[in-house]
Formats: sequence, C-alpha cells, structure tokens
Amino acid sequence: MRPLPPLMAALALLAVPLLSHAQTAATPEQMQETRAVTGELLKTLSGKLQQSMKANGPAGSITVCKTIAPQIALGLADRTGWKITRVGTRVRNVDLGTPNVWQHKALGHLNADLKSGAKPETLEWSEVVTENGKPTLHYAKAIVLQPQCIACHGTASKLAPGVADKLKLDYPHDQAIDYEPGQLRGAVVISRPL
Ligand code: HEC
Repeated sequence: MRPLPPLMAALALLAVPLLSHAQTAATPEQMQETRAVTGELLKTLSGKLQQSMKANGPAGSITVCKTIAPQIALGLADRTGWKITRVGTRVRNVDLGTPNVWQHKALGHLNADLKSGAKPETLEWSEVVTENGKPTLHYAKAIVLQPQCIACHGTASKLAPGVADKLKLDYPHDQAIDYEPGQLRGAVVISRPL
C-alpha cells in the first residue's frame, strides 16, 4: 500500500478525535430550543382547554384533551422532526400516555425533585444518550396538577358532573384520577438527535 500523502495523513489524524468525541451534553441553545417547543405545547393546550372549559364545561371539554392535545404534539413533531408526547405518572390514554423506560426514569427524578421542594414551573430532567449511533437528547418537563385539573383528574367526589361517565366510555382503562393539586401528573417528553 502506498503511504498516505502528508496532508491526507494529517487530516485523517484530525478526524479521529472529531469522530470519537460524540456530543455528551446539549448546548445551551439546544436546551433553549427544546424548552421553547415544550412551552409552546403547554401554552397552546392550556389556552384551548381554558376556552373550552368556560364555553362547554369539563364534560364537554374532554374532546379537547382527547383530540387537540395529540394534534398539537404531532404538529410540533412534524415541524421539528423530534419525538414529542405527553406521558402520565398514572395513565389515561394507554397508547399515547404510557411512559417508556427512560420516560419512567425521568418521572421518578421529577417526582423526587418535586417532593424535595423544586419549583414546578422550572422542573425538568434531561440526559444525552447514544441512539442508533447518534447522540440524542432525552428531555422531560414536569406537568404538575393545578386546581382546575381536578375536574377531570381528581378523586371521584371531585370530578365534575358527567365527567366520570364520559371517561368510562372513552377510557375504560383510565388510571389518571385521584390526583391532588401540587402532585406530579406527568411530563412533556422530547427525544431529539443532536
Ligand atoms: C376536561 C377534562 C380534563 C381536564 C380539565 C384536564 N384533563 Fe388531562 N386529560 C384529559 C383526557 C381526556 C386525557 C387523555 C388525552 C388523550 O387521549 O391523549 C388527559 C390526559 C392528560 C395527560 C397525558 C397522560 C395521560 O394520562 O394520558 C396529562 C399529562 C394531563 N392530562 C394533565 C392534565 C393537567 C396538568 C390538567 C390541568 C391543567 C389537566 N390534565 C386537565 C382530561 C382532562
């Protein structure tokens, strides 16, 4: 074999550290982008839900959570190319809301931090892992119960009229009741290649 010309040899040497040095943390810009998309999901959904609760009451707003929440997440996923969804500590939508292994771990961290006094507004958890050979950011933003969530996620006596019946029809395996304000309800979760 012919020896590599000196310039190519030098380039090959340079490429080694570049290739072996995979990104192990998200940059501040990547974290900001991720937080912004999470914030957009939560803000859009909460706006639509509040509007509908005023106009149609809780039982009439179940469709907002059922159809509009996944639509917003899908729209953002299309725009960014990231995986975006909401998961629950106890789940209502078994297909969309069940946490996978890393999401389950994330919920555990968020719950522990919430219990030790972390502020709900800023509570998040993230890690960079290698997925299909690429560094991938796993990010979870806590969703904490507020008083208005109780109408559809509270104990049986606190559910708004008509809600329990409608939930039984739409979500026969619903586990997402019996919550109190201030508890961790779930998280917005994002996976994105870096
Ligand atoms: C009008 C009833 C209603 C209200 C009010 C409501 N939710 Fe829900 N919530 C639902 C329904 C229905 C689903 C299932 C949505 C789906 O099919 O994806 C759901 C699902 C969720 C999920 C996704 C995980 C899962 O269990 O499927 C989270 C997280 C969540 N709600 C948090 C909240 C929070 C926080 C509030 C208060 C700010 C709230 N919800 C208020 C009805 C409601």
